[in-house]
Amino acid sequence: MRSQTILFVGIVSLCSAKEYYDKLDRYLIACHTTDFVCFKRQYKALRDNVLLGNNILNIDYYDPYYFKYGNSGTCIKLSGLEESELVGISMDGAVGLFGLTLELPLRVQQVYNDTKLCAEPEREFTSVQTHNGSLKKFKGNATIQAIYPYEIRKKKGVIHMVLEEEDLEVILDIPHLIDYDMNNTEQLAVYNLSEWAYDILQHIDAAKSFALPYTSQYRTLAERVSIERLLLLYPEEEYTDVKFNFSDSYHFP
Ligand SMILES: *[C@@H]1O[C@H](CO)[C@@H](O)[C@H](O)[C@H]1NC(C)=O
Ligand SMILES: *[C@@H]1O[C@H](CO)[C@@H](O)[C@H](O)[C@H]1NC(C)=O
Ligand SMILES: *[C@@H]1O[C@H](CO)[C@@H](O)[C@H](O)[C@H]1NC(C)=O
Ligand SMILES: *[C@@H]1O[C@H](CO)[C@@H](O)[C@H](O)[C@H]1NC(C)=O
Ligand SMILES: *[C@@H]1O[C@H](CO)[C@@H](O)[C@H](O)[C@H]1NC(C)=O
Ligand SMILES: *[C@@H]1O[C@H](CO)[C@@H](O)[C@H](O)[C@H]1NC(C)=O
Repeated sequence: MRSQTILFVGIVSLCSAKEYYDKLDRYLIACHTTDFVCFKRQYKALRDNVLLGNNILNIDYYDPYYFKYGNSGTCIKLSGLEESELVGISMDGAVGLFGLTLELPLRVQQVYNDTKLCAEPEREFTSVQTHNGSLKKFKGNATIQAIYPYEIRKKKGVIHMVLEEEDLEVILDIPHLIDYDMNNTEQLAVYNLSEWAYDILQHIDAAKSFALPYTSQYRTLAERVSIERLLLLYPEEEYTDVKFNFSDSYHFP
């Protein structure tokens, strides 16, 4: 009786382990160290299925950054990472650095605070009064570069890339539209919104509050899956001395 029970438990866990890997196989794409196109595809699959949250891997759901917009009773929602693309990836075993560069549309939107609790921005808005009129929104671009120090560790036959806290560089692209025709109402409105968005972004630490909550998800991913599920080696390569550096970003070479 007792041995039957143990056998039963064994079968159940075996089945769920198989299911676990079947599901992950659909979105964990492994790439060779020479294949930038594959890394771009890998990133997109990770973004949609893992970095924005994943129950199987126990990775928390990512939320855009909401912060309080003065006394207006409204908040600012900063988003766009959901649409980010990989434009650079690098790894250097000799110095132990792993780098990701992402480009994204940056959405700056004024929203009512009815569904989300809004954070306090790093620098408070002191002159924003009661909201009146329509909610504002602006779309710019952003580039984020994350460089993680790492170590390769082997534990019980499983190889992991252990990532430490990343160094972040964030470029928020809000065009300064100096050559706009101020006599044209439409162009003036776009100019005004761009100045508005620019001013808003002076109140926050975008690296810490906007980029880090997302880029840190990659650290959790590296803890949860073996590096072999993400990176394929050629026979002459070793995980400890991998070296590649691809980029098509014009901001960070
Ligand atoms: C890849 O090259 C860029 C430009 O030379 C450099 O800034 C970056 O640190 C390199 N990445 C790694 C992991 O060494
Ligand atoms: C919305 O803002 C009001 C006024 O600042 C505040 O009292 C309320 O707690 C906020 N609600 C949410 C869900 O953040
Ligand atoms: C909202 O703006 C309109 C026109 O600009 C003004 O007449 C009205 O008093 C304002 N309301 C509040 C609550 O500020
Ligand atoms: C954002 O980038 C896209 C694609 O590179 C470009 O077409 C667009 O004009 C940029 N938007 C702004 C506001 O700079
Ligand atoms: C805008 O209007 C002013 C006065 O009507 C005029 O002097 C100026 O040349 C105009 N600017 C442009 C760019 O059309
Ligand atoms: C643009 O901003 C100026 C100054 O803040 C304001 O007088 C004007 O009405 C605004 N125009 C539009 C179209 O938003």
